[in-house]
Amino acid sequence: MKQKKAGRSNPNRWQDHYTRKAKKENYPARSVYKLQEIQKKSRLIRKGDRVLDLGCAPGAWLLYAAEETGPSGRVVGVDLKPVTVALPPQASAMTMDAHDLSMPGTFDVVLSDMAPDTTGSKHVDAIRSIMLCEAALEVALRSLRPGGNFACKVFQGADFKAFSDRVRAAFAGHRIFKPESSRKGSREVYIIATGKKETEIETDSETDSKTGSSSAENGQH
Ligand SMILES: C[S@@+](CC[C@H](N)C(=O)[O-])C[C@H]1O[C@@H](n2cnc3c(N)ncnc32)[C@H](O)[C@@H]1O
Repeated sequence: MKQKKAGRSNPNRWQDHYTRKAKKENYPARSVYKLQEIQKKSRLIRKGDRVLDLGCAPGAWLLYAAEETGPSGRVVGVDLKPVTVALPPQASAMTMDAHDLSMPGTFDVVLSDMAPDTTGSKHVDAIRSIMLCEAALEVALRSLRPGGNFACKVFQGADFKAFSDRVRAAFAGHRIFKPESSRKGSREVYIIATGKKETEIETDSETDSKTGSSSAENGQH
C-alpha cells in the first residue's frame, strides 16, 4: 500500500522527515540529528576524545559520537534499557541507572539525552527532567577533566533557570540551544557548556557516593 506523504500542514512533518532519514542512514533513532546539530554548533567532541553518553538507548548518539571520536577515542553509554545495535570497537554501553553511576577516570565530554517517561503533565515532566539533569551535572562535575564539555537535554519548566545558572557557574562557556530537528511543539532544549572550570564544586551527594557494580556491560562490537 502506498504511504501517504506528510504535507506541509502536518505538525509531524519534521519528525517524519528525520525518522525516515535516520532509517535510511542506519541510525536507530532520529535523535542523532540533534547531536549532529549540537556538534556542528559547538564542536564538543574531537578525535580521540573519551565521551560519556547518559541515556544512550537505543544507541544513535553512541554511534554518532563514536564516528566523531574515531577509533582512537572511547565512548561509554549508560541507560536503564539495553542497547541492542551493533557498536564499533571504541563504543560500549552499560545497562544501569545514571543515578547509581560512579564513573572512575576522566572524560573529555559528558552528554545527557536522558528523558523521563512522559506523564501528560508538563509540570511533572519538567520536574522529572530537571532531576535527571541534576544527576547528569553531578556526573559531569565528577568525571570531566578541567576544560571538558557537557551537553544536557532539559524540558523547560519552573526550575530550568536555576539549573541553567548552576551549569553556567561551572563552565567557561554556556548556551541554550534548540535544534532544528527537535519537534517544534516540544519544550526540550539543550544546555551546551564548554570548558569545565578547575574549581572544585561540591555536589549534592558528595558524601553519598554509590558504586555501579550491578551494571552489565554490553560487549557488542
Ligand atoms: C530520548 S532517549 C535517548 C536517545 C539516545 N540519545 C539515542 O540517540 O539513541 C532517552 C533515554 O533516557 C533514558 N533514561 C531515562 N532515565 C534514565 C536514568 N535514570 N538513567 C539512565 N538512563 C535513563 C531512557 O531509558 C531513554 O532510553
